[in-house]
Amino acid sequence: MKEQGETHQLVLLPGDGIGPEVIKAAESVLSTAREYLGREGIELSWQAKPIGGAAIEAAGQPLPDETLAAAQAAKAVLLGAVGGPKWDRLAPHERPEAGLLGLRRALSVYANLRPAALLPGLEGQSPLKPSAVRGLDVLLVRELTGGVYFGQPRGRKGEAPNRSALDTMTYQEGEIRRVAHVAFRAARRRQRRVTSVDKRNVLETSRLWREVVEDVATEYPDVQLEHQLVDSMATLLVLKPQVFDVVLTENMFGDILSDELGGVVGSLGVMASASVGDGGPGLYEPVHGSAPDIAGKDMANPLGAILSLAMLAEHSLDLPLLSRAIEAAVHEVLRQGLRTRDIADGSQGEQVIGTREMGERVADALAQNFHTRQALNAAYF
Ligand code: IPM
Ligand code: MG
Repeated sequence: MKEQGETHQLVLLPGDGIGPEVIKAAESVLSTAREYLGREGIELSWQAKPIGGAAIEAAGQPLPDETLAAAQAAKAVLLGAVGGPKWDRLAPHERPEAGLLGLRRALSVYANLRPAALLPGLEGQSPLKPSAVRGLDVLLVRELTGGVYFGQPRGRKGEAPNRSALDTMTYQEGEIRRVAHVAFRAARRRQRRVTSVDKRNVLETSRLWREVVEDVATEYPDVQLEHQLVDSMATLLVLKPQVFDVVLTENMFGDILSDELGGVVGSLGVMASASVGDGGPGLYEPVHGSAPDIAGKDMANPLGAILSLAMLAEHSLDLPLLSRAIEAAVHEVLRQGLRTRDIADGSQGEQVIGTREMGERVADALAQNFHTRQALNAAYF
């Protein structure tokens, strides 16, 4: 795997709602990984810090300095979710979400990778016809630190009934270029097709987006590039999602289309994401959000968080074998018929379990996987 004596320091940010539960479940998997990596001389350690609403309660702000400093000093960060009804009345810059946006920006993780595929046994979860989703395997690459979520100026003025509000969508050429490279490089490891999504018929930022993406494409003559307008793309993703390979788009379009992909797959709970920049710590988060209605009930699906951990192992720790082993462990529990409530469909052989137990069962499957590998190696050498 890797050289002996290496230490990987992680930061866990459980956050709000179901965040703490899914991160706890991911921690079961981390503990198993730590045990087996330790035998290879690779050390894994982690500490938890508050973010979002939890940090507003503990420290009066959604991204405390101490949390940010720990994240910046870590190899990678695994985040649960932020937000909830309790903080809904706060102004945008005071809300839990501002903590997450601030963290993404401070870590410069400008490329957000959101894979969407049907996991074994979950094919029937998609509300679409089987013929429409067979073979579905999309990697959405969302620009994460620019666009209208960060553009200045922004704000409100005036009194009712004459209030007005302003957001600014802005992109620098370099911001487009660097995320486009991430998409084209990813396409080279996949089917070598990139679909770039914009709204060029209306927006200036989209015209620039398309020009820069086309320019970057000339460096990847082996990758096929096509463009779609975002409204049309919204339709295509439900009509024939399986024709797409890598989908590249700006921040807000990517936010919306990635939730749509969650709907297409039918189980937002299993969707993972990785946010990466140029070196520095990566940020890994399940796509599902804080789901306050089921928080604290041991009902949440931790597989999105666990699969985000698999992405962390691959992209930030350079441990692809660990990443594959975690994915295989998730597939194994699904094959055994284990389901959290959100992905249960009442079919024969399924067993509905809680968040904590799901984490433990994946950890057990991972231990079994390592054990088998070691036994095989021993027999082999
Ligand atoms: C997401 C979420 C976040 C975003 C929110 C919580 C700020 O919706 O990761 O997709 O808009 O990026
Ligand atoms: Mg979103």
